[in-house]
Formats: sequence, C-alpha cells, structure tokens
Amino acid sequence: VKHYEAKNEPALEYTQGSKERKDVEAALSKFASDGTIKIPICIGDREIHLDGAKRQVAPFDHKRTLATFDYAPPALIQEAIDNCLEARERWEATPWEERAKVMLRAADMLAGPMRANIVAATMLGQAKTVYQAEIDAAAELIDFLRFNVGNMAKLAQYQPISTKTAENTMVYRGMEGFWAAVTPFNFTAIGGNLAASPAFAGNSTVWKPTDSALLSNYLAYKVLREAGLPPGVVNFVPADGPQFGAEITKRPELAGVNFTGSVPTFRSIWSGVAANLANYRTFPRLIGECGGKNFHFVHPSADLEQVANSTIRSAYEYSGQKCSACSRLYVPASMWPKLRDRLLELRASLKFGSPLDIGSTFSSAVIDDKAFRRVSGYASELPKSDSANLQLLGGGKCDDSVGYFVEPTIIETRDPRHRIMQEEIFGPVLAVYAYPDNQVDEALNLVDSTSPYALTGAVFSTDEEFVKLASRRLRQATGNFYINVQSTGSVVGQQPFGGARQSGTNDKAGGPHYLLKFLSPMAIKRAT
Ligand code: ALA
Repeated sequence: VKHYEAKNEPALEYTQGSKERKDVEAALSKFASDGTIKIPICIGDREIHLDGAKRQVAPFDHKRTLATFDYAPPALIQEAIDNCLEARERWEATPWEERAKVMLRAADMLAGPMRANIVAATMLGQAKTVYQAEIDAAAELIDFLRFNVGNMAKLAQYQPISTKTAENTMVYRGMEGFWAAVTPFNFTAIGGNLAASPAFAGNSTVWKPTDSALLSNYLAYKVLREAGLPPGVVNFVPADGPQFGAEITKRPELAGVNFTGSVPTFRSIWSGVAANLANYRTFPRLIGECGGKNFHFVHPSADLEQVANSTIRSAYEYSGQKCSACSRLYVPASMWPKLRDRLLELRASLKFGSPLDIGSTFSSAVIDDKAFRRVSGYASELPKSDSANLQLLGGGKCDDSVGYFVEPTIIETRDPRHRIMQEEIFGPVLAVYAYPDNQVDEALNLVDSTSPYALTGAVFSTDEEFVKLASRRLRQATGNFYINVQSTGSVVGQQPFGGARQSGTNDKAGGPHYLLKFLSPMAIKRAT
C-alpha cells in the first residue's frame, strides 16, 4: 500500500452474450422479484426503520416503487453526528495504510461481486443506460477509491527538509469534528466519493444521500461497511435537505461539508455556516460542485462530423443530466445549415426509452417530477411562448404518463443573451446560436460573459492559432476545458473535475490535491 499506484478500471462493454451482460440481467431480475426494498437510516451498527413513508420510483416507469425509506428526524441526525464523533478518534489514529486496505477492498468488491448489483441499481433508480451506469457506479467509483490511496501514498512520501539541528516531519491528520457529505442523484460515484474521501483521510462523515439515488447509494454504503469500514465512520442518513443543513451547521464540531448539488442549496449551507461562525471549534471547510451552462464552441475550421457526434453525446447522453453536459452551442453561420441537418439526423436516430432495453436505448427519462416540469418548461413551453426568439428544430415532446420523458430537444435562438443560452437546464435541451463568421472574437466574449458558471466547455477547430486564442479568452470560463472532444466524460486521474464561479469551489475531485481538503497536516520539528 505504501507505494500503491492506481490505474483506471476499464469500463465493461455489456455486449450481447457477455458475462457482464448476463450478470446485470440477473441483477435486474432479482430487483424485480425482490420487489420494494426497505432502506434504513444507518447509524453505527444500527439499521433504523421508521414507517417507510417515502418512496424512490423508477424515473422511466414511475408506478414502479424501488425502495421505501424515511427522513431521519432531527434527533436521529444529532445521534448520527454523535456517533461519528465517537468513531472518529480511533479511526483517525488508524494508520492510513490500514484505512487504505478498507478502501481497496471496497473497490475490489465493486469491481467484482458487487458490480452488477450497483450498476443495476443505478439503471433502475437513476434511469441510466447500462453503459452510463457502468462508467459511473462501477468504473468511476472504483477509480475514486483507488486513486485516493495512490495519491495518499505519494503525499505521505513527502516530508519537509531536515537539518543538522532538527528532524522535521509532517503528520497527515484527519480533522477534528465530523464531515457532512450532501450528494446528488446524477452520479452514484459522486455520492460514494463525497462520503468515502473524507473517511479515507481519517474523518468521520454523515452522508445525506438524495432521495432519487437512494438505492444505489445505499449499496455503495453497504460495500464500504462490508469492506471493513468501522461503524460510525460513515453514517447513512436520508433526510430533508434544509433540516439536515440546519442540524449540521448548528454543531460546533462541524469540520466540513462535501457537497454536490444546486447553487441555492450550496448558498444556504454557506449561510448556515456563516450564521454559526462564532460557535465552531475550527473553521468548517466547504467544498462544492454546483452546476454549469457548458458550451461547445465551433470554429469555421472545425471538423463537422466530429462536432456533430461530440455534441450529440455531450448534450443527450444521460438525458443531459451530467454536470458537464453541453447545453449551449456556438456555430459559425456559414457552417450551421449543414451541421443543423447532421445534428437533426443523428438526433432522430437516437433510441429513447427504458434503460432496461439494454443495447438499444441511448437515453431515458429525467430523474423526477420536479425535473420533468423544469425541463419541459424549456423544451416545450418556452419555444411556444417565445416564438419570436426561439425556434424549436427537433424534439420538444414531453410525456410523463409512464415515466418522466423529455425528448432530446434542439432549439435555435438569434439572441445570444437569451435566457436559454444562460440558465442551467439539466436536461436534454440544446440551445444553439449561429454567430457571424467574421465575429469569432465577439462570440468568444459572449461565451465568457453570458454565463454565471464556469464548469466545462469545448472548442472545436483544426486551426492551432484559434485554439490558442480560445484557450486564452476562455481561461476563466471553465474548470474542465476540452479541445476537439465533447465536454463530458472526465476520468479520475486524467481530468480532475470541478469548476469555479457559480459552479463551485473547484477542488478537483479525482485529482492529486483533493485529499488535502480533508486533511489537517501537522508539522513537527524535533531537535537532534
Ligand atoms: N465527471 C462527469 C463528467 O465529466 C460529470 O461527465
């Protein structure tokens, strides 16, 4: 473990007849025959069932209840925090190599016996196709766990310079107090990572998963426990968001919040911390990844086919619900008619439906009723109510009779400042602005100035001078910048992920410095 070097877990293909395909089909059948799963609140060794009043449904078939669960009332949230505080000291004193063994065991379980199960749970609960579930709940989560260990091994090798009169060392401590992980629906891997990274660093964490990803997140929690994570190091506590926020921020022992979700929620966590600032034992660290209005920018020199394929993937894979998904496209006017035809052609060929149709479905439903109403507002109602500025080119059909289905949609606007070019939609809606060919500079400035976010973006060009210019002009407009490739699909250890401005604190999950956020190093000088 001391010299562990992590490698990326290869994503499986799930081709017809393959072992992984059979395994995932068996796991899906088992979920179907087991029926509704009762998910407990997990505190220490206790699994607490209340009345099971809440339901997680399959987004593509909302009559199907996958799981029932309860929100932890305030008293249980407080118990979970107390339990974390009890577990912390012993865990923090455990050498990092021992903690690493637990994480590597969890990674191996996900890579082996638990893989099909967590992939199936992510397909059912979060409406991912098998491949999208694989690159998330299997490959990426495994990578997060293993790369943390590799990064810790490197960090631990660093020691300050010693002299004739002093021996200097660094101790990479976990922090006093407890962490809270508040996690999103769109990646099972993000949920697992946000809870497991502080824990690996020697902290204890109260994990509040989101309702719409409970099943897969609960399985990730179980894997950590079965891999040997001691009780109380991570407590799994479904809860009402604002209530959870109030309960954690009022505790003087709050060490940090590891958050992925919306801007308003992250702001309310900051406000809760600000309101209690004088009470904390240490300044809580707030890590957030919030949102984006990610762009693809096409230069006249770009390869049209490359742009078309990349844009379809970025805008519509997982129904545009990756934080990194492209939702605004800038195209030179001269290229637009051809590109438009190609995009429409590709769009029309996408099969859109149930993720259980393995191998044929390209994308499925959006996550829930609230998302359906928001996204259909952009995809269907807005082009109708604002036909002077918006032209619906394809898609726009929305139907929630069986599942929360919003067709992959493409909308053109003549107004680059239109709200469809500025607001995060988080669904399969691509807005396009065709800019005059002789105004590349102005168009680049628009990309930078019209969005409050700075998460991902891609430029497409075969002209190296333009790539340099765009990289300079858009230097602050993204945290993850892509050249001639789509804005989605960052890989742990390859493209550490995160953004600035309203996209968050840009702490780069999957990068070498991420662990430092959860460590409180101590420098020791010893006279010799
Ligand atoms: N890490 C995910 C991606 O880049 C969000 O698509």
